[in-house]
Amino acid sequence: MAVSLVLLAAGMGTRMNSDLPKVLHHVAGSPLLHHAMQAGRSLDPDQTVVVVGHGADLVGKAALAFDDTALIVEQTEQKGTAHAVAQAAPLLADAAGDVIVLYGDTPFVRPETLQAMQDARQRHDIVVLGFHAADPGRYGRLITQGDALHRIVEFKDATDQERGITLCNSGVICANAKLMFDLVAAVQPNNAAGEYYLTDIIEIARGRGHTAGVVICDEAETLGVNTRAQLADAERQFQIRARAEALENGITLTAPETVFFGFDTVIGRDAIVGPNVIFGPGVTVESGAEIRAFCHLEGCHISRGATVGPFARLRPGAELAEDVHVGNFVEIKNAILDEGVKVGHLTYLGDADVGEHTNIGAGTITCNYDGVMKHRTTIGKRVFIGSDTMLVAPVRVGDGALTASGSVITNDVPAEDLAIARAPQVNKAGLATKLFDRLRAIKAKKGK
Ligand code: UD1
Ligand code: CA
Repeated sequence: MAVSLVLLAAGMGTRMNSDLPKVLHHVAGSPLLHHAMQAGRSLDPDQTVVVVGHGADLVGKAALAFDDTALIVEQTEQKGTAHAVAQAAPLLADAAGDVIVLYGDTPFVRPETLQAMQDARQRHDIVVLGFHAADPGRYGRLITQGDALHRIVEFKDATDQERGITLCNSGVICANAKLMFDLVAAVQPNNAAGEYYLTDIIEIARGRGHTAGVVICDEAETLGVNTRAQLADAERQFQIRARAEALENGITLTAPETVFFGFDTVIGRDAIVGPNVIFGPGVTVESGAEIRAFCHLEGCHISRGATVGPFARLRPGAELAEDVHVGNFVEIKNAILDEGVKVGHLTYLGDADVGEHTNIGAGTITCNYDGVMKHRTTIGKRVFIGSDTMLVAPVRVGDGALTASGSVITNDVPAEDLAIARAPQVNKAGLATKLFDRLRAIKAKKGK
């Protein structure tokens, strides 16, 4: 069935005590909003509408950074969840099929759960995602009979008896788009908070002869983030799950509790990850690659047989082909390293292409930035870059060439040439001894 998403992300998040909108706080290296959008993406939605309010510009930008086809709508005053959903109505006026409402601050809803809700729509006109809460606190309570949902009562409006119910509302809700927007338009703010409650649509729908049902998921999936403590807890829970999944998928983690995964990290079977490795967003590692201790990786690809680290940093656009070796204290950004390239020690490669089987000596730096613009360095196949070479971009080094240690390469080097670009050495006979004698004499005089 066709489906569109409405993500609610207008709330202030007062309890975060932050200048940053709540949904932009990070779990696993990415904003909460991206986690929610990722979950929604699994349904292959026709359209995704993100409702923004507090920090509208920043939140809208972050949404578009994840999905540039997302539609952004601003809710200028936060009058409640039904009012928030109503903002999306004009954008989804022609939407076929269903609409699913998700919260931007609820990062862990699983694709399987959203699918189960879609399936349950064959039995009910509206499907709500519920969970049994260990501590139901201030969640809305689901009043059910069998698998039929009668209504949702908000904590503030609930009787003592209703507050005793532990089946709670996650906030995720699914219905035919036209029905959803008709119902939302009928909601009135007749409650303790004076807000337009999305939860009221259940009673309104039933009054009109529609049916509602519940799909129940694990409480961990509906974990919402309202405080820094909950943010830290969300991170902890995410990592526990990600580590378990990695082990399950045949990846060796020497010290799992010290490895931090990104929300979209992909690692192939038989890869080895050492202690204290951090994966930011957008990392893919092929089978059999090895990431040694203390590496920091984001937006990069590591191919089969490659080894990285210890103490290496791969930044966005770093692409390592098969059997590449990147050693300690090496930083790579926006650079493509072809098969068998070796970059062993203390090197920065930024905005570069390096041909197969080239060796980059210790202390090499691509000088890619002139203070205004970035420039590219192109190095051919089977090149030997001598230790401590500065490659002042834009510059090219041809296949099979060699640069002498300590060279500052400002001009292109033709294939198979040797480039030496450093001051020639001069030896002054006995001058070291003379110099030391003079310095010692100066020191002795001062000491008196
Ligand atoms: C809501 C539900 C409650 C449920 C709980 C689960 C209602 C009335 N209540 O309560 O039943 O148990 O979530 O966490 O729906 N938002 C907007 N615009 C608004 C108001 C809210 O975009 O005008 C967004 C918030 O940013 C947030 C989400 O909607 O992402 C939920 O709003 P929140 O105020 O946190 O609802 P709760 O009181 O927690
Ligand atoms: Ca909330």
